[in-house]
Amino acid sequence: MAKMGGIQVGGNAYQVPAGRRDGNVSVAQETNGNLPPPTASVSQLNQIFGSKGLTQADMVALSGAHTIGNAHCSSFDSRLYSYGPNAAGQDPSMDPTYLAALAQQCPQQPAGADGTVAMDPVTPTAFDTNYYASIVAKRGLLASDQALLADPTTAAQVVGYTNSPGTFQTDFAAAMVKMGAIGVLTGTAGTIRATCRVAN
Ligand code: HEM
Repeated sequence: MAKMGGIQVGGNAYQVPAGRRDGNVSVAQETNGNLPPPTASVSQLNQIFGSKGLTQADMVALSGAHTIGNAHCSSFDSRLYSYGPNAAGQDPSMDPTYLAALAQQCPQQPAGADGTVAMDPVTPTAFDTNYYASIVAKRGLLASDQALLADPTTAAQVVGYTNSPGTFQTDFAAAMVKMGAIGVLTGTAGTIRATCRVAN
């Protein structure tokens, strides 16, 4: 059995294998060491994705999920206010105009006030390649997004997606199916969900 997914915001439709056995609880602390922090470098991203059997190319394609959705100021404001050895500078890998605009949306605030910003400022609700175009323009939001331009191999893939229509969406769909096969429970462990995004 298979389900289709991905087209509602402009991505590809692709076949998703169904019948995956999942656990019944999500424990936030169990993500520690399994999900990369927003400050991750390419080598750190490679290490975490690699530990799940995903390649660097998968990682670059999957990062394109950030063409949709929002991030809290706290996920990137160290790039605006506390970058560098003295924890007081601005990240030089960010376009200064974008940095100034983000600083307006994310003023340096006492803890508690933490707004959100679109991760793809150009087309935040479309599944397109503007996420990658922004990285090329030094307008990646998270340090882990902008890091993809700092490594020559990942940078070539980023640039390639901006001038090869459809390639990102195809690679993304394949990498999503691959990601869906990580850590599948077998035998009698876990359950097959009646609704895939809700625990039974
Ligand atoms: C490459 C390593 C990744 C890092 C370091 C990372 C980190 C983050 C962070 C810090 C946020 C913002 C959370 C917040 O401040 O509220 C975020 C949002 C998001 N991420 Fe990732 N992520 C990564 C990969 C992925 C992948 C592989 C996917 C899915 C295929 C994904 C999908 C999303 C989506 C859709 C959002 C927006 C959520 C919303 O609007 O609430 N990310 N990510």
